[in-house]
Amino acid sequence: RTPSFSVDPSDKVYHCFGCGVGGDIFQFVREKEDLGFAEAVEALAERYGVELEREQEDPQAEARRKQRERVGHLLSRTGVFYSAFLWDADEARAARKYLLERGLREETLREFGVGYAPSAWDKVLVRGQRAGFSVDEMRGAGLVTKGRSGGEYDRFRTRIMFPISDRRGRVVGFGARAMSSEQGAKYINTAETDLFRKSRMLYGLDKAKAAIAKARRAVVVEGYTDVIALHGGGIEEAVGVMGTAITEDQVAVLSGMVEEVVLALDADSAGQEAMLRAQRVAAGRRMRLRVAAMPAGEDPAEMLAAEGGAERFRGLVEGAVDLPEFRISMVLDRMADTSPGERDRALLEAAPVLAAMEESAAQNELVRRVADRLDVDPAMVMRKMASVPEDGGRAEAGERGGREMGEGPAPRSAPLTSRERRERALLAMCIARPKEGAEVLRRLSEEHLSESGAEGLRWLRVHLDEPTKGLPSEGTLTGLMSELVLLARSQPASPESMEVNFLQLEQRRLESEISAAGRGGDDARRAELSRERNSLLRRLAEAQHAVS
Ligand code: CTP
Ligand code: MN
Repeated sequence: RTPSFSVDPSDKVYHCFGCGVGGDIFQFVREKEDLGFAEAVEALAERYGVELEREQEDPQAEARRKQRERVGHLLSRTGVFYSAFLWDADEARAARKYLLERGLREETLREFGVGYAPSAWDKVLVRGQRAGFSVDEMRGAGLVTKGRSGGEYDRFRTRIMFPISDRRGRVVGFGARAMSSEQGAKYINTAETDLFRKSRMLYGLDKAKAAIAKARRAVVVEGYTDVIALHGGGIEEAVGVMGTAITEDQVAVLSGMVEEVVLALDADSAGQEAMLRAQRVAAGRRMRLRVAAMPAGEDPAEMLAAEGGAERFRGLVEGAVDLPEFRISMVLDRMADTSPGERDRALLEAAPVLAAMEESAAQNELVRRVADRLDVDPAMVMRKMASVPEDGGRAEAGERGGREMGEGPAPRSAPLTSRERRERALLAMCIARPKEGAEVLRRLSEEHLSESGAEGLRWLRVHLDEPTKGLPSEGTLTGLMSELVLLARSQPASPESMEVNFLQLEQRRLESEISAAGRGGDDARRAELSRERNSLLRRLAEAQHAVS
């Protein structure tokens, strides 16, 4: 959108001056795909056909990784089989017809790898065995089950298959929809394991993440078919929670990607206890959760199937209201009458919603609205809020998993202070003019610089000629160097402007020393430093004159 993202092909670095993120190709893949360093290396190697040699991996970890790779391979080839079966098999004709009649587009269905599991008891089992997978492996992957008589058979039969992929697009499980109500549960899913936790995943995230980044918001819906219908209708920032309530883990995943999430859920499901937890997690992460209430009895897939549905849906998303406001409206609208009993009940329901909000003007306004409608003193509403337990009842809600290590996205860097901008400009000029730069780096001390600037100084004193070579794979130095190298290329540098910048940093250093002396009551030192500052200011004025 703005020319703030730069890539330098010769130095092989990038930097986004908009959000302060930058580095080398590995850092880029880590940021974009939200991966750890090793995963980023693996992803790139896989993509460009580079064979990786692992120098040190303990044999157990290696065995586990190999096993995971095998299971991943098994799941993805089974997904391909289901998909081919959906489009080619006679037996799947009814399923094809059903999906297309629901308004889902073939192209999108194919993109999502939707498939069909045959009615036979052993198609997947036999195919898997033929490809060299053991029955145990297939059971581990959730594809076969042990029957009462001890034999194994295919777990998914006569069902429409929705592959569930991780963020990198690797199939990790399946959701399987029955074709008729005689088949028992409408959906059965891959059993939950350590590797497959539905509550931590968002359906379609691998396909939506680019659109989410672009739209700067995610749209969250409930079902597989909703996600597919929306993508088919051009709303590609849609992901699915695969159930009714969004979980804390799902909020956490999204909060690393966007600041705004619109929940396009059934109006009722937004009233649940789980929503409250989601609201609290979102508030703690400065993420805005909004609700686009779907008309009663209509889900996004149905809306999209009708003429003009995509436009109607977009309208709902635009008009979404903040989650707390939405929930308060629901509580107030649900009051049957204005009897004291009903009002007390509403107050009891409203209090935790209000208490989960950040202290803000929005919270204040809602408190007033509740007090008004219930005809009670706002102070009473506040007292009720204060009596809501800190954790909002989370303790009773039972176990919840934390996020997996290495899954979290890198935190966004805070905006730079003026001192940081200045020191970065100076360090970049040192790179641009290494001859004068070496001298400036010698005169600079860590007291002139912020913590990150000091780190940069230490690095550049040794690596001024090739600042981006041999950078550590962890930490912030890589980001800083990519920024400096690109800055060096784009900003003018002259010995005079370097001198100005240096003197300005020197001035800053003096000022803080002066105030320290003041605080310590050392008047003589203070006077001496002030004289020093006056002479510095004269030099600065001269230097500035020389630049212009
Ligand atoms: N779900 C599930 N297990 C169930 C019921 C639902 O995992 N027994 C999850 C599925 O991910 C499903 C979502 O909850 O997609 C929403 O459920 P529902 O609205 O019942 O299904 P839809 O996906 O809308 O399916 P359809 O429109 O085809 O009926
Ligand atoms: Mn539905």
